Amino acid sequence: MLEVKNKVAVITGGASGIGASLARLWVKEGGFVVIGDINEENLFKIKTELGSTNCITLKVDVRSETDTESLAKTAIKYFGGINLVAPCAGVIADMMMVSPSKEDPKKVIKMPLETWKKVIDVNLTGVFLTVRDCLEQMIITDSKGCIILISSTGSLGTAGQINYSSSKAAMSIFPKVLTAELMRRNLSGKIRVNAVAPGYTQTSMTEGMNQKALEAIKEQVPIGRMIYPEEVASLMLEIYRNEAISGEVYFIHGGLRLGSRG
Ligand SMILES: NC(=O)c1ccc[n+]([C@@H]2O[C@H](COP(=O)([O-])OP(=O)(O)OC[C@H]3O[C@@H](n4cnc5c(N)ncnc54)[C@H](O)[C@@H]3O)[C@@H](O)[C@H]2O)c1
Repeated sequence: MLEVKNKVAVITGGASGIGASLARLWVKEGGFVVIGDINEENLFKIKTELGSTNCITLKVDVRSETDTESLAKTAIKYFGGINLVAPCAGVIADMMMVSPSKEDPKKVIKMPLETWKKVIDVNLTGVFLTVRDCLEQMIITDSKGCIILISSTGSLGTAGQINYSSSKAAMSIFPKVLTAELMRRNLSGKIRVNAVAPGYTQTSMTEGMNQKALEAIKEQVPIGRMIYPEEVASLMLEIYRNEAISGEVYFIHGGLRLGSRG
């Protein structure tokens, strides 16, 4: 089992929601965090809360490779290694790919390319860049640890989320591909790659969703409520600690099953 004390976590999207909960838990267990996020106001808040001895914050846009490189190098500069990488930065931009207009069924409303790219650029390319640059530094500094991606129940196919579901399905395959690649380089005993796939979790992301639709979804959740971000963070900590866990995706959704209508 891996220890957290004095170990280093790099968390993107860590100024809010699941990433912030993970940062709090990591620091509570005696670790150091380097948080990258695009939201400067929330970065300031989390740094004030966690204190500057254990927490470094950096304004990072995960779509920029200059930023992700600088995030990974900052962790090395201040703490000498990276033991956990949690790319939590993510966005949604929901709409149907094609939908007949209510006024004129012959008129079809299409998802604009920008709406597709808005999500793919952050949730897929942003994670690729973050993981690539952190893995590079983990290898150079001979760090032992774990990468934990954030997939979603959306990876199973949610209507109105072709962009988001596609990005989250990709997060389900990252652990398999990267574990195989690390194994080919004799690194898979040192660096493990896994993913968590949360269901509807109480964060600013779901606050921004259609609340009527969310209420209907809640009725489908066997535990009768949304998941708390602290519960996802707790699962992520266990995945980090437990070295038998490798190359897999772990769902945490309170029993939710998606039906034919997604
Ligand atoms: N909330 C849910 O129901 C749920 C369910 C499954 C998976 N997830 C995933 O969990 C992760 C965290 O989401 P959350 O629910 O905590 O949402 P959140 O909105 O609370 O946090 C997301 C964070 O990402 C940051 N961010 C957005 N774009 C960025 C960019 N370009 N560069 C850097 N930072 C950026 C935001 O500023 C924010 O702090 C996301 O990947 C999300 O898709 C969330």
